[in-house]
Amino acid sequence: MTSPQPMRDFELEVFFSKWEFKVRHHMTASDMESLSLSDLLQMAAPEDRERFEKLWLGYTQTWGAPQLRDEIAKTYSGLAAENILCLAGAAEGLYAVAKVLLSAGDHVITTVPNYQSAETVPLAICEVTGVPIKKAMVRGGWKLDLDELRAAIRPNTKLISLNFPQNPTGMVLPHEDLKEIVALCRERGIWLFVDEVYRGVELDPADRLPQVAQIYERGISLNVMSKAYGMPGLRVGWIAAQDLGLLEKVERYKHYLSICNSAPSEALALIALKSRDQILARNHALLKKNVEALEQLFAAYPGLVEWTRPLGGCVAFPRFLGPEGGEAFCRKLLEVSGVLLLPGSIYRSELGDVPEDHFRIGFGRGAVFEQGLAAMRQHFEAHYPQFKA
Ligand SMILES: Cc1ncc(COP(=O)(O)O)c(C=O)c1O
Repeated sequence: MTSPQPMRDFELEVFFSKWEFKVRHHMTASDMESLSLSDLLQMAAPEDRERFEKLWLGYTQTWGAPQLRDEIAKTYSGLAAENILCLAGAAEGLYAVAKVLLSAGDHVITTVPNYQSAETVPLAICEVTGVPIKKAMVRGGWKLDLDELRAAIRPNTKLISLNFPQNPTGMVLPHEDLKEIVALCRERGIWLFVDEVYRGVELDPADRLPQVAQIYERGISLNVMSKAYGMPGLRVGWIAAQDLGLLEKVERYKHYLSICNSAPSEALALIALKSRDQILARNHALLKKNVEALEQLFAAYPGLVEWTRPLGGCVAFPRFLGPEGGEAFCRKLLEVSGVLLLPGSIYRSELGDVPEDHFRIGFGRGAVFEQGLAAMRQHFEAHYPQFKA
């Protein structure tokens, strides 16, 4: 795709800013069920709770609070606090890393479909190629073809930007494929950025990939409190890397963006990370229960939705098979039954076709999911009786 080009609207965020807080049943959320402040504080050790209550509301360190960086580093093997740079959400990481690493004349490879900033930010700087994530008869139902990825590499390829577990497909790369991609990048000195924000809620923990910052000297791991941990309101994210020079450049760039994280959010993120095993175990159990409930609904209407259980994360991208097509299905479900799904067109890409008639559904929430699923069931009963098993 030729570039540079002005950044187009972030279509998913435009859609959410219109609907997310208006709709009756949000069934396309990409985060796990959150916690209340008081629930989180109950998990805190007494000294952490006291630190939170007595917190000084001044600026914080641009790199992130030292204790928080220490705790984040413990989630990686072989990395220390100096390998962690805290950021305002994962969104800031996607933006700042592209701005720091790339110049006109460079080339980037990402996937299609993707989380839009992975293509739109690089496209404002240089050329970008999209390698399709395709439907396939494999576990999880989606595949990234490494031959196509290899064929997309050019002499000036500077960065490969991936996301696993993937939004929206729920795809997780097989372990050996990640190793092969790292080897490809290492041979050519290519940076490998992996958005790992859904890591931790794979349905089968054996699918959990090693974090790229641990296994590759030019690997950049992106993570955040928002998704697997379910605390997007904290707006605490980070990148991890072995290359301290790169982290320093991103830190300098951050001076033009958020400067530093919110002090209360850092203290709360520290509390949450200290309880990460408990939080992730709760979230994993919820995810499993919700996926089973969703599958029961789809199984009761065979031929209406083409569904394969995703491998990781709390969203999936099934295909609607009914007569009116996926776009009209999502529109009617919203208008008639107040249920919000993301039509596949929101994942439109400048880099290639996104399969038509798919929709994104989220299944990480608690009561919101149960009520939304009940509303979907009623909608199916009323509008698709001919598909009922
Ligand atoms: C794959 C992916 N990366 C990054 C983000 C941005 O995360 P945050 O809201 O924490 O900045 C999202 C949010 O949906 C996402 O799905």
